[in-house]
Order: sequence, then structure tokens, then C-alpha cells
Amino acid sequence: MTLQSPQHNFWSKVVEKAQLGSDSAEKVPFFSLAPMEAVTDTIFRRVVAQAGGPDVYFTEFTNASSMVHPKAKFSVQGRLAVAEGEQQPVAQIWGSRPETIAGAAKILPTMGFQAVDINMGCPDNTVIKNSAGSDLIRHPELAVSVIAAARQSGLAVSVKTRLGFSQAEEFREWLPIIFKQDIALLTIHLRSRKEMSKVPAHLEYIDEILAMRDSIAPKTLIQLNGDIKTRAEGLALAQAHPGVDGIMIGRGIFENPYAFEKTPTPHTLEESIALLNLQLDLFDDVNENVTSKHFEALKRYFKIYLRGFAHASALRQMLMETHATNEVRDILKRELDRVYAAVASDQHMYRDNTAASADMTATTLEKNSQSV
Ligand SMILES: Cc1cc2nc3c(=O)[nH]c(=O)nc-3n(C[C@H](O)[C@H](O)[C@H](O)COP(=O)(O)O)c2cc1C
Repeated sequence: MTLQSPQHNFWSKVVEKAQLGSDSAEKVPFFSLAPMEAVTDTIFRRVVAQAGGPDVYFTEFTNASSMVHPKAKFSVQGRLAVAEGEQQPVAQIWGSRPETIAGAAKILPTMGFQAVDINMGCPDNTVIKNSAGSDLIRHPELAVSVIAAARQSGLAVSVKTRLGFSQAEEFREWLPIIFKQDIALLTIHLRSRKEMSKVPAHLEYIDEILAMRDSIAPKTLIQLNGDIKTRAEGLALAQAHPGVDGIMIGRGIFENPYAFEKTPTPHTLEESIALLNLQLDLFDDVNENVTSKHFEALKRYFKIYLRGFAHASALRQMLMETHATNEVRDILKRELDRVYAAVASDQHMYRDNTAASADMTATTLEKNSQSV
């Protein structure tokens, strides 16, 4: 298989484009926004794009069984919704039954997707009980069949996984099996399932993984994930390990919506409020025209935009009491003059980028265990 085959074509274009967009003669990795359940829907992806987005977006993970089930298929539509004019994301699906994966993957091209990513890293017990997500690390023969099934779609097939199930060092057995499948891209969250996100990412294994790729599957691209917060951090990591092709950022976006920006710039509160207003407008549009959305779920985003300035927490408190987007808009209109005056002496900049991530993760993971 060459880099020009359909399986690899999508990703080789991503690599080329990332390089073209750079002034540097050095290899520049491509950047992705990580798939995040109940976060990276069409609404938030478009807000991130407005803030200076990555090269690639992933959808939230979608249950392959629901996609092919006559009664459930409408319930998952929202997860795969892509707005007109929006950059087409990579569809991430999860499951463990090859026939279901094949059925789901074949639907994706009809929806305009060019690439499918298979989740082999989710630590959630409900997913594991279905022998999917990180459980596939313990059942590599099934993982191989799942990849082969996804290939039937003709789309570029990638995998996102962790280093191991119980121990990070399992990568020495696990990753060669995946590399032998000649997938287009392997994204590695540099932790084991057991480690969840509680220990620092295992950067110490990057070179060993790259050497493994070079000897088994030199055409498979490698994307690193775990604790990388900004484009600058990703560039530094890729420079230290030149074989790295891509960098995926997840929770960094909760701390800084401008995490992918090529030239990091201090952003004003007005810009941040404009992003929140965009999110409110897109929420209303999707809610009315695409799929019904729960207003309560919108509240967890407030901290991304409203933080690091005087009165931020008081303003958030007020917004937490709201029940509709218009109530949020009314409060913003009413309070903002006062807030802008208070932050003038701070040049309207972000100051504190530490608090939002933990909140977003906790809320969403709680929801994860109920919904998948
Ligand atoms: C709220 C939340 C939801 C997530 N949902 C998914 C998902 O749907 N699919 C997936 O592969 N990983 C999911 N992840 C894992 C992230 O994609 C990523 O691997 C992880 O957060 C580590 O990267 P980071 O340190 O940059 O956040 C989720 C993570 C979070 C915090």
C-alpha cells in the first residue's frame, strides 16, 4: 500500500497541509482536537475553529451498534452532525463486533466522512463491558478484525489507543500488532487504561514507539496525545522526537480556547465573550434545526470563556442559575459593562488557566458512564 492509496490519502494531505502552512523548513506536525464525548460536537468544534483551530477535528465517539440499529440510529445522529461549511471531522466510532463496525463504517461515507477512527482507548466500564474501547487491548485478535471490518468502508482508517490495559509497558506487545495492520494513523494516549489520566503521560516511551513504527509500518503516521496543552508544547515535543507526525490536544482547550493558535497572543475578555456568544448562537441553531440539545450541558462550557478576570466567578454563578440561552444573553448584556470596567486595568487578558479542565473532565466522565 502506498501513501497515495485511499486508506492513506486523507492523512497524507493533512501532513502536507500542516507543512505548507508553516514558514519553517523543519518538519511541522499536524495538530488535532481530541475526540471528547459531550464536548467536541459540531457546536464546540466551530467555536474552536473561530478561535484558531487545529488541522484536524474528531467527532465525539459514537456507538457503532447504535448507528446500525433501526431504533437507535436517530439517537446518535447528533454526535455525527457536521454543519454546512464546517471542516469535515474524522468520525470516531466504538464497538467490538466486526459486522457492526463494518455496517457503521459503511454509513460514514454517505454522510460525507473521509476518515474513520476506531476507539481502542476508552477506559469507561460500560464500554469495556461491551469488549470495546481499551478492552480491545486485552483482545488483540478482535482488534485486528475490527480494523479489517472498518476498512470495508473504503475510508482512511485510524486507531486511537492507550499504551496498555493494566500497565504502560504492554505497548511492547500491543502496538506491534496494530502496526502490522498498516493503518493510516495511530494516535497514542501515552498512558495505560488503569492509569486513567492520573499519572503524567509516559513521554519516556516515545522513541521506542517511533522505532517500532519505523521497523514494522513506516507509512503509518504517529500522533501523540496526553497532557499536551498548547501548540507550542506540541511543537517542542515533536522537535525533541522528529519522527512524530501529529499532536492531539484534548483538555488543553478547556484551559485555553486559543490552544491551537499559531502565534500565541493574549486575548481580551471581549474576544472571549464573543466566543461564548457564538457558542450560544450555534447551540440555538443546532437545537432548532438538527438535534435537540440539553441546555444544562451548555453550562459546563462557561468556565472556558469566563475566567481569569475580576468578577468572573460571580458572573459564572449568575449564569449557572439560567435555564435558556436568552437568559444567558440577557445577563451578559446587563453585567458586561461593569465587568469590562473592572478588568480594564488588567488589559482584559487571561490570567488564570488552571481551573476549568478538572471540572469539564469530571462532569463529562460522570455523564459518560451513564450514556455509553
Ligand atoms: C471529557 C472527555 C471526553 C472524552 N471523550 C473521548 C472520546 O469520545 N473518545 C476518545 O477517544 N477519547 C476521549 N477522551 C480522551 C481524550 O481524547 C484524550 O485522549 C485525553 O483527554 C488525554 O489527552 P489530553 O491530556 O490532551 O486531554 C475524552 C476525554 C475527556 C476529558
